[in-house]
Formats: sequence, C-alpha cells, structure tokens
Amino acid sequence: MSRTLSVISLIPALCLGLSTLLLRGQEFTPNFDESKVPAYTLPNPLLCLDGTRVSGSTQWFEKRRPEIMGLFQEQVYGKSPGKPGKATYASLDSSLALEGTAIRKQVELTLQQGGKEITIGLLLYLPSGRSGPVPAFLGLNFGGNHSICSDPGIILNTNWMRPNEKNGIVNNQATEASRGSASSRWDIPAILGRGYALATAYYGDIDPDFDDGFRNGVHPLFYKAGQIKPAADEWGSIGAWAWGLSRILDYLETDSQIDARRVIVMGHSRLGKTALWAGAQDERFAMVVSNNSGCGGATLSMRCFGETVGAINTSFPHWFCANFRQYNEHEERLPVDQHMLLALIAPRPVYVASAEEDRWADPRGEYLSLKGAEPVYRLLGAEGLAGEEMPAVDQPLNGRLGYHIRSGGHAVTPYDWKQYLAWADLYLPKR
Ligand code: GCU
Repeated sequence: MSRTLSVISLIPALCLGLSTLLLRGQEFTPNFDESKVPAYTLPNPLLCLDGTRVSGSTQWFEKRRPEIMGLFQEQVYGKSPGKPGKATYASLDSSLALEGTAIRKQVELTLQQGGKEITIGLLLYLPSGRSGPVPAFLGLNFGGNHSICSDPGIILNTNWMRPNEKNGIVNNQATEASRGSASSRWDIPAILGRGYALATAYYGDIDPDFDDGFRNGVHPLFYKAGQIKPAADEWGSIGAWAWGLSRILDYLETDSQIDARRVIVMGHSRLGKTALWAGAQDERFAMVVSNNSGCGGATLSMRCFGETVGAINTSFPHWFCANFRQYNEHEERLPVDQHMLLALIAPRPVYVASAEEDRWADPRGEYLSLKGAEPVYRLLGAEGLAGEEMPAVDQPLNGRLGYHIRSGGHAVTPYDWKQYLAWADLYLPKR
C-alpha cells in the first residue's frame, strides 16, 4: 500500500471530478476501483485481546465491549472528559412557530469547568398540539441553527463559521442571507408531522472546525495545569462534538416536553462520524443515524477506498486524536475497524445511509461495516440487517440495522428522512 498524501482539503477537486490530486507537489490518488481494494482481515469483534471468544452478553458488556471502547478512545477519537463542573440552562424563547405547526424553543446551555465556559445555543421544534413528552431527533448542524430553516425567529449565530459565501457566510460570520441555507437537509414538516421533535445546535459552538492547536472551543476547559493541547490519546474535535451531543442530552433530560429515553442521535458527514461516536459512548441515546459519514465514521478504513486514514488526518488534523496518525497509510495495523464502532451501539438500532455518487465515503464499505457488526447484534439476541446482500440503489433495508444507498450525491434529502422516520417508528423503544 503505497500512497502519498499532502495537505489542503481534497473536496473541491473531488467535486470537480478530478481523480488524481496534486497537492503541495505530492500526489494522492484515491482508489475508486473495487478490484484494487487491498486484501484485509477485519479484527473480530467477538474475539478478546487475550484470545477468548465472546459467547454471551455478560462477556460482551463486561469484557469485550470495554476493550473495544478503550481502543477507540486511545487510538481513534481520543478520550473525552465527563460532565462539566456546572451546567446551567437559560430559556430564551418558547413560541408558536411554522404557521402554528410547531413550538419553537431556544435554550442557551452554559457549561463551566476550570474557571472557563462555553455556551451552546440549542434550537428545538416540537410538534404543536401534543400532550405529553415526545421522542426527538438530535443532530448538530454545520451553519448555525438559523441555517436549518428560514424561520425569522431563530437566533442568528455569531460564532466563527467556515467560509461559504454561497451560504451567506462572510468573513467567517453568518449574515441574514444564511437563514435557511441548509433547509433542504432538515425535513422539518416530515419530522414534526410524524410526532417527533427536532433538536439541533451549531457544532462550532462546541469547537470551531479549524486546526488552531485546540486553543479555542471546549478543549481548554479541561486542560490540567500547564497543558496547552490534548495528549495523543485525548479528544480531538469529533470527540468534542460528540461530548456536546451528550451535554445536550443532559439538558433534554430536564425538559418535560421531551421523552429523553427516546432520543435518536443523527448526523451527516463529519457530523455523522460524530453521531456514531456519541451513540457508541453514551448509551442513553436510543438509536443512531449515520448519513454519508464515510471515513472515520461508518465505513471500513481497511478497504482504503475513496478517503483514507492518511487523507483525512492530513486534511483535517484536528478531528481525531494524534495517535490515529500512526495508521496513515497503514490501515492494516489498526486494532479496530469501524464495524466495531457500530458494534459498540448494539443492541440499540443503528441506521447507515450512503449515496451512490458519494464514492469518497465508500458506500460498499459502509454497508460491509454493518455486516461486520451483525454478529454482535445476533449474540445479544437482536435482529441485524433485513437482507443478505448489499441492496440496490433506493431499496432500503429496514431492519434493526438499517441501510440504504440513495441515488444522488453527498447530502441529506427528504428521501433519507423518509427512511429514518419509517425506521424510527418501527424500532424506537415503546414508552
Ligand atoms: C470532507 C471529508 C469527509 C467529511 C466531509 C464532510 O469531504 O473528507 O470525511 O465527511 O468533508 O463532513 O462534509
């Protein structure tokens, strides 16, 4: 496996359909050819490090699962801290919205630790006219809460944003023009219409998505005296975003309008990686949805198809823990692969969605990852995938392990939401 890599995001070039990229003078050619996938042997999720075979659920939960969790914490995402010293919640808004179909709530979560604090702006839409707590989808957003819907009542986020003039981000700041810029990704009428609430927050409130050596965002709240960046086995940005999702769930547990035992954590792309890691670590999440999460998310790293460990660690050095870099161009040395991340969620339902044109995220690898997690579900007496083969495009497999590959590209579409809602209706634990 000899692949050379270089810095700079590969995405723009890939969007232009280029297959070989010259970056800072070095060449990285992602492999999109199934026949060139290297031979690999996935670590067995049911074989302990000492060679013991897991034969029952107690052994899984007491021995093998903690072992796998430890490996992901030390080698992939880094270890995250627990709850902050203090969390306070301020209600900023509770009004009827979206032509009376929703109750909009905005809550400011202030998290304090070590004399420092961050604030997370949470937006909730609840279906109006319901009595009693409702289940909810919880997902972070890329462009501020105001980007998910053109509702003028949503507070405009003033934190740093990645540049995107098309979406109304100017000088790293959101403008009024960015309202609703991501509305196609959030099918709010469908979600509310089926009786679910939607909870969302801007991921940059937790940790701005750029490599500044971990001076900004939540990391410094937890530094020990003299520490200036996370240790090699401590959390990167994905770990921080996932931690933020758990802190939002802490809040949801206090909100009497939400059924916090029935919260489905979901995310797209880098935030799909985040949703999986949050769902794996925090067993309070009832179900997990990964939308086009790709490398470092649902897909198998050892296939080296599309984005590789070296490519992701080079383009986004702040996402994973520093230890993960030792697997750049050496995926075969990984002690875990991403099927074991999905297995950590077992027996809770998990849905992985791919898109046909999103080859960078390796759709087949995402499906095979679910397949690789299936033995753990079966061991725990749960159903796995609703089929033996990777399904055709637009033919969802609606099992406890759900999967579809949608026609089209890297996005979240109403089609995706339709599948998630049908699946949630089937597998969400009953009250
Ligand atoms: C890039 C990156 C992916 C990531 C995606 C996103 O394409 O290489 O790993 O999933 O950005 O988050 O949009």
